[in-house]
Amino acid sequence: MGHAPWWQRGIVYQVYPRSFQDSNGDGVGDLKGILRRVDYFGWLGVDAVWLSPIYPSPMADFGYDVADYRGIEPVFGTLDDFSELVAALHGRGLKLILDLVPNHTSDRHPWFVASRSGRSDPKRDWYIWRDAAPDGGPPNNWLSTFGGSAWEWDAATGQYYYHAFAREQPDLNWRNPAVRRAVYDAMRFWLDRGVDGFRVDVMWHLLKDPAWRDNPPNPAYDGSQPEFQRLLEVNTTDQPDVHEIVAEMRALIDEYDDRVLIGEIYLPIERLVAYYGRDLAGAHLPFNFQLILTAWDAGRIAGLVERYEAALPAGAWPNWVLGNHDKPRFASRVGPAQARVAAMLLLTLRGTPTLYYGDEIGMRDVPIPPGMVHDPWEKNEPGMGFGRDPQRTPMQWDASALAGFTTGTPWLPLADDRAACNVEVLSDDAGSILALYRQLIELRRTSPALSLGTYRTVAAEGGVFAYERRYDGASMLVALNFGDQPDRRIELPPGDRPGRVLASTHGDRQGETVAGALTLRPDEGVIVSLTG
Ligand code: NOJ
Repeated sequence: MGHAPWWQRGIVYQVYPRSFQDSNGDGVGDLKGILRRVDYFGWLGVDAVWLSPIYPSPMADFGYDVADYRGIEPVFGTLDDFSELVAALHGRGLKLILDLVPNHTSDRHPWFVASRSGRSDPKRDWYIWRDAAPDGGPPNNWLSTFGGSAWEWDAATGQYYYHAFAREQPDLNWRNPAVRRAVYDAMRFWLDRGVDGFRVDVMWHLLKDPAWRDNPPNPAYDGSQPEFQRLLEVNTTDQPDVHEIVAEMRALIDEYDDRVLIGEIYLPIERLVAYYGRDLAGAHLPFNFQLILTAWDAGRIAGLVERYEAALPAGAWPNWVLGNHDKPRFASRVGPAQARVAAMLLLTLRGTPTLYYGDEIGMRDVPIPPGMVHDPWEKNEPGMGFGRDPQRTPMQWDASALAGFTTGTPWLPLADDRAACNVEVLSDDAGSILALYRQLIELRRTSPALSLGTYRTVAAEGGVFAYERRYDGASMLVALNFGDQPDRRIELPPGDRPGRVLASTHGDRQGETVAGALTLRPDEGVIVSLTG
């Protein structure tokens, strides 16, 4: 267990800085706030903290529109605050992962300001500029993820620029070596300041078709999906040569000790795993979002795990994500009982788990009244359910009126259930989801079978998914009832000794001896040590 790197052994916890802890009463979370909560990470038992972007930003996309790759947004604090946070985390044996947003900048970034200042500006080619089509319209049919054309007309210079997201987020031209160098310098800037790695935003978007061909229609589009899904993104994403860039980023990361490269990639498994790179010289962890995207059904999830395990290149380390700032909260999707089963799944599968802040207290999507919408996606395609504000609401720390998050007016509304659903109250309740998360994290941390062991499916029928994790003679069985059916029975693999229950999602049964078969109650997940 000693030689596995931290990003394989450990657990990543995502903080959305605007919503974690406000320290100055402006209603927006900040670095000093995170610093104040730094002991929480250790208490919970996670190993690495990933911060969504904290760089200077006009906040057209809440930090994913970066105006300076080497600074700290004043609403979040200063570089000194940042250094203090790095030191505080490292002092507790915790790692810090930054978000890197290389695909696009803010339209206020000095690079773009220069680029749009004239066709002969030296930075013109740092972004993607194209002439109008013969009819004066956009150069091709490419669509923005947030709706509408991905091309924005610039009257002053008479060309369109490309933006895969908001029009305030022009895409950089990664075919230009000067762009690569500039972003790589920014990566070094942070690595030199002790950052332990990056989560690279939209890694699969970095290059586009050099022939600028139209995207073909998506035959599965039925009008209920976001508008950009009208087309298949074959010419705007996942270009074959993107892997060269990923390999360059990895080589840079490898100049430093013990750092990690994580890629945000929404692709089917077969294409996702290509981001590990040839000879595993790509991303250490191409984020695997399949649990979020797959129906919550024992058979479907078992099939997913098997397909993913089978697709992994030899030696590649898996990972699993249950939630993030872009997707509805898991507890809202499956309900509170199954959210506990999901926690057990996430923390016992083979592969690095990533937790989204607040999931450990069972936070749910918070309805956002139309007048309080912030997310640019919701503003562009209102009322369709694509908005991401509901899953970005402030962390609920205690039962006070403002949940301990701020003394001012929170930038997004607090959840109505905050008096009951908060860290302080739930940490006093041995049966809470928070207690379960802590127990599961502790089990994973102390059990090489759960953190590093092999994976084998044991059962996937009757609404139950069961699997075994093994390491060095130790064996753990995890059995999950994905529904509210009682008395689900699983035959235990033959063993010399009876099994011993280590944890149940229902909070009891610890120490129970099981021999031959295990029976699960409704919505119950159980971890059994098969080797004493
Ligand atoms: C993915 C990020 O997670 C999302 O929040 C953002 O809007 C887009 N990339 C654009 O940066």
